[in-house]
Amino acid sequence: MNDLNALPHDFLWGVATAAYQIEGAVTEDGRSPSIWDTFSHTAGKVDNGDTGDIACDHYHRVPEDIGLMKRLGVGAYRFSLAWPRVVPGGDGPVNEAGIDFYDRLVDSLLEAGITPFATLYHWDLPQTLQDRGGWPARETAEHFAAYAAVVAERLGDRVKDWATLNEPLCSAWIGHLEGKMAPGLTDIKAAVHASYHLHLGHGLAVQAIRAASSDARVGIVNNLSPIEAATDREADRAAAVRADGHINRWWLDPVHGRGYPQDMLDLYGVELPERPGDLETIAEPLDWLGLNYYFRQVVADDPAGPAPYAKQVYLPGVRHTAMDWEVHADGLEELLVRLTEEYGAQRVYVTENGSAYPDVLRDDGTVDDPERTTYLEEHLAACARAVRKGVPLAGYFAWSLLDNFEWAYGYDKRFGLVHVDYASQRRTMKSSGYRYAEIIRESAARKR
Ligand code: IFM
Repeated sequence: MNDLNALPHDFLWGVATAAYQIEGAVTEDGRSPSIWDTFSHTAGKVDNGDTGDIACDHYHRVPEDIGLMKRLGVGAYRFSLAWPRVVPGGDGPVNEAGIDFYDRLVDSLLEAGITPFATLYHWDLPQTLQDRGGWPARETAEHFAAYAAVVAERLGDRVKDWATLNEPLCSAWIGHLEGKMAPGLTDIKAAVHASYHLHLGHGLAVQAIRAASSDARVGIVNNLSPIEAATDREADRAAAVRADGHINRWWLDPVHGRGYPQDMLDLYGVELPERPGDLETIAEPLDWLGLNYYFRQVVADDPAGPAPYAKQVYLPGVRHTAMDWEVHADGLEELLVRLTEEYGAQRVYVTENGSAYPDVLRDDGTVDDPERTTYLEEHLAACARAVRKGVPLAGYFAWSLLDNFEWAYGYDKRFGLVHVDYASQRRTMKSSGYRYAEIIRESAARKR
């Protein structure tokens, strides 16, 4: 792909995963239950009654999984730590066996020449903290900072790249407003307060990481979508502004020192649980921004729906993945440019990007996934276009290394570059994985 020439020489090629989606071993070595254990074990919450109990059994297969990363040739691995493994009580004593697992993972990555990118929170809140109020409670933000300090003190000599939160939108909006993710609430006040304390926890964690490790590079990972109005009608255009506020501005403005968007505060009608100094903490300067990009949203006015009263409209004739998400690589370019021009980003990573398709492991032991390969190539080309427009894009992490537990969709939705047969735990590189490895090799050759 010649058009990738624009990517910088030191561009980082990576893959990403998350603890609850791959680790399994949910009762081993002192791990306590998280809100996702509770949610997935509640009848009717996850397709097919799937849970993360075993997942990809990564907890017992780290060497094999690092071997896959080496075959892909990636230079970086973005993983998350399970808070309930490290501090099973949510606050209080550290579980040495839990933090040791990540300590060994980091050492093994470094030995393999792979840079660890650690995410502190990818949705698996210790259930005990949920029982004490969860993210709608301020104490959760404070406990998160203490947990961040524990992890950074232990790993900060080797891990330099940290993300505080992964996709706080999902935790707050999908978990507390739509009820489709843990903890499964449908309460606008709880959702707004959760979003606020997630942000506060983020800012406090940035400070804690830097206090423990002075050369840490810290960022936050947001999932964003470009928004378009379904028609030129005034009502649809206004719906697009609201959806943009709900999905993008609410998550970007506060961490960039702009406070919360007034139009959205008016729309939600919920008072923020703000204390003096909070907004400064939330806006703690960052070293980088992480963008998780999957799809754009075309919206129409939906006065009877939930906040933000905008419903997604499916355009005829466009391609969709198995998630029913539109394939729209231009949206990635658009968002990267927006982060740079509107928010002044100095360093950006695409921290997730990928697609689910109904892959089949064939009798000859191969998995051919041309649609995922095309998706990958189109989105990398979008990255290169963004770089040409001046975006300081430093790396790309494919979602995901492995097929894994896709939250409320269970195991049916496969995002991996590597196929997982869950019955045998056998891993098979898909043709998209081979293509990614080739792209990485070609990029290394260009540097020579
Ligand atoms: O699997 C998820 C991941 O946990 C967060 N970002 C989106 C992915 C695909 O839905």
